[in-house]
Amino acid sequence: MATVLAIETSCDETAVAIVKNRQVLSSIVSSQVAIHRQYGGVVPEVASRQHVEIVNQAIAQSLAEANLQWSAIDGIAATCTPGLVGALLVGLTAAKTLALIHHKPFLGIHHLEGHLYASYLSDPTLKPPFLCLLVSGGHTSLIYVKDCGLYEILGQTRDDAAGEAFDKVARLLGLGYPGGPILDRLAAEGNPKAFPLPEGQVSQPEGGYHPYDSSFSGLKTAVLRLTQKLQQTEQPLPIEDLAASFQATVARALTKRAIACALDYGLTTIAIGGGVAANSGLRQHLQAAASQHNLKVMFPPMKYCTDNAAMIGCAAAEHLERGHTSPLTLGALSRLPVSDVMKLYQTEF
Ligand code: KG4
Ligand code: ZN
Repeated sequence: MATVLAIETSCDETAVAIVKNRQVLSSIVSSQVAIHRQYGGVVPEVASRQHVEIVNQAIAQSLAEANLQWSAIDGIAATCTPGLVGALLVGLTAAKTLALIHHKPFLGIHHLEGHLYASYLSDPTLKPPFLCLLVSGGHTSLIYVKDCGLYEILGQTRDDAAGEAFDKVARLLGLGYPGGPILDRLAAEGNPKAFPLPEGQVSQPEGGYHPYDSSFSGLKTAVLRLTQKLQQTEQPLPIEDLAASFQATVARALTKRAIACALDYGLTTIAIGGGVAANSGLRQHLQAAASQHNLKVMFPPMKYCTDNAAMIGCAAAEHLERGHTSPLTLGALSRLPVSDVMKLYQTEF
């Protein structure tokens, strides 16, 4: 059973965790949200500097909370792609340095593979094959999970990611950043049927619509137009109804595609991952639709939906068990398809 110390610095969370296979021994997450909020989004340079300030302290804290010495650690991992290159470099450099000093194997981990592994933290017995609906601030993908490191992307967004749509709609409603949790709270007080909104379908060249791809930019524009129209009336903006209608439309769009994909590929389990996996509307909608089709839905624990290092450690522990390690020449990559994950374990990169 491999014990891994994992570092995650791909965006605005400085996170360090120690994971023994699928068991979290410690998980430190230091969020920079309060700093970036004043700019309405993540400022890459500010994020990198914050990671530098915090990462060493978080590493020490993770060891202290797990009550472990370096001798108990079998490998050191860091998210190396996708993400903000300057931010990724901080965690990656820390992990490679520690691996050298302590003579431990080093592993670069794909951030999306981490999100996909978050469901193993709620059910360690989960086994491929299954379908992963990965919905974060930067990605919206349907991934066929065949084995550790073996992934096929079956559907994705053609424009905005689901989390990005939440953030943009919250911003246009003047609600602050990040938008997902704020809209989720407001939606609970509103009527999801108050405003019909377009789900966003992707046309195929041969006619009809793509069954698994999504598009959220039209929905965001529709909310903008509707808001502008409502602002022309004397009435206060029905913010809760707008939030509920928007959230229900996103939940419906994602659920429809995930269920169709699982049924078409004969997959009986859908695991959801990424920040939007915390969304209560999506959780309810997907659970209800899946039960109708006798499909099982796996949700990560709430604290492991948004960025954290426990999910990175969980993926790393399994790779390490399989003998996968990365060369110290591995650098930060702003993007890499999750289907190319095994490239991170080649001797040269
Ligand atoms: O996975 P994550 O922490 O970072 C990325 O890898 O992108 O996801 C962050 C995204 C943000 O867009 C945020 O608004 C969204 O997840 N999010 C939510 C909720 N909590 C976080 N979206 C909808 N409902 C939520 N409860
Ligand atoms: Zn993420």
